Amino acid sequence: METIRDWRPFATEHRVATPQIATDHIAVTWSDGRVSPFHFAWLRDNCPCRLCVHGLTREQTFEIIDTPEDLAATEAGCDAGGLAVRWSDGHASRYDAGWLRAHAYDEASRAERNLRPPKVLWGAERAETLPQFDFVDLQTDGPDYLAWLTAVRDVGLTLVRGAPLEPDTVIRLAQRVSFVRETNFGVRFDVESKPNPDSSAYTAINLPPHTDLPTRELQPGLQFLHCLANEAVGGDSLFVDGLALAEALRRGHPADFAVLTTTPMEFWNKDAASDYRCSAPIIALDGRGEVAELRYANFLRGPIDAAAANMPAVYRAYRQFLRLSRDPALRVVRRLQPGDVWVFDNRRVLHARTAFDPSTGRRHLQGCYVDRDELLSRIRVVERDAT
Ligand code: OGA
Ligand code: ZN
Ligand code: ZN
Repeated sequence: METIRDWRPFATEHRVATPQIATDHIAVTWSDGRVSPFHFAWLRDNCPCRLCVHGLTREQTFEIIDTPEDLAATEAGCDAGGLAVRWSDGHASRYDAGWLRAHAYDEASRAERNLRPPKVLWGAERAETLPQFDFVDLQTDGPDYLAWLTAVRDVGLTLVRGAPLEPDTVIRLAQRVSFVRETNFGVRFDVESKPNPDSSAYTAINLPPHTDLPTRELQPGLQFLHCLANEAVGGDSLFVDGLALAEALRRGHPADFAVLTTTPMEFWNKDAASDYRCSAPIIALDGRGEVAELRYANFLRGPIDAAAANMPAVYRAYRQFLRLSRDPALRVVRRLQPGDVWVFDNRRVLHARTAFDPSTGRRHLQGCYVDRDELLSRIRVVERDAT
């Protein structure tokens, strides 16, 4: 039976040496000696044959409930380094060795898979060594392009220089990653001091460290800020690595860390036509206890709604968080030049700007958002095309 291949290629250096049928699984011994158990249900569920997987979409059509619960392998052999299985209900499956190895779930294989791309934490020292790229070099899918995407993923902050001073250039750059995420501030937003501002961003005041749109269930993943003019006195850019901040809090003030990872805070953004609200902790942890994202803008908070007995601890933790956000050792300060674009992970990095004086010159940035999933998908596709 024809098998339907995955979109991504798999390394083939390991071959199935001996498959052995046990009570509820097949134990595969690989050519390098590793032993991986594959349970009958797991193997049957992942049969890549044309009856089980759609030939065009390559998506599974088979549902495990359509086989008996006591389904068992009756024969297992290796062919061309892969695994061939015959089942008690007559079905036959064949698994490519590279695919099987890549998805094996013995301890050693799982540990290998969990070696996720290392996040690079940073502080003030990073101002001199920011991942920096030329706009023109990002217009083709070459090495600079992949290096840029991976720096946005792993470092969370990049500077792109030499962008044309045309309006909407920021959209062109964002579209090099993927789809732009539209919000109530538009597909593209203009950051300048406006006569009737509907956001603190559109004034000339100091904008303390924050993530954009903490008021949404899903905060925008990436933010792009393109500088068209920066002639006013003031208006420097400032960044804090939220991962570094959160880890410093976890190490130095574990009780405050516990409060900020568990206490929902209120984030509100209201104007005449909209009313966005989100109630969630400032620091979100993933299933492994690692920091997944920061959600924070002091100027977009509603009154804290916590149990009276907890309120003092919540404010103690909140103060500690703010103290760290002002720690010069954690702050990268840089001034944007026309043609510069900040591209950063809005769910990880807090950004800020100092106050500026609009009477001393023009200051105009254009910005937009792209979701994190788009970046990660794009990286996978570029990497798979390169192998
Ligand atoms: C914003 C913002 C930064 C700046 O618009 O949300 O953070 O430098 N702007 O004006
Ligand atoms: Zn099948
Ligand atoms: Zn902002």
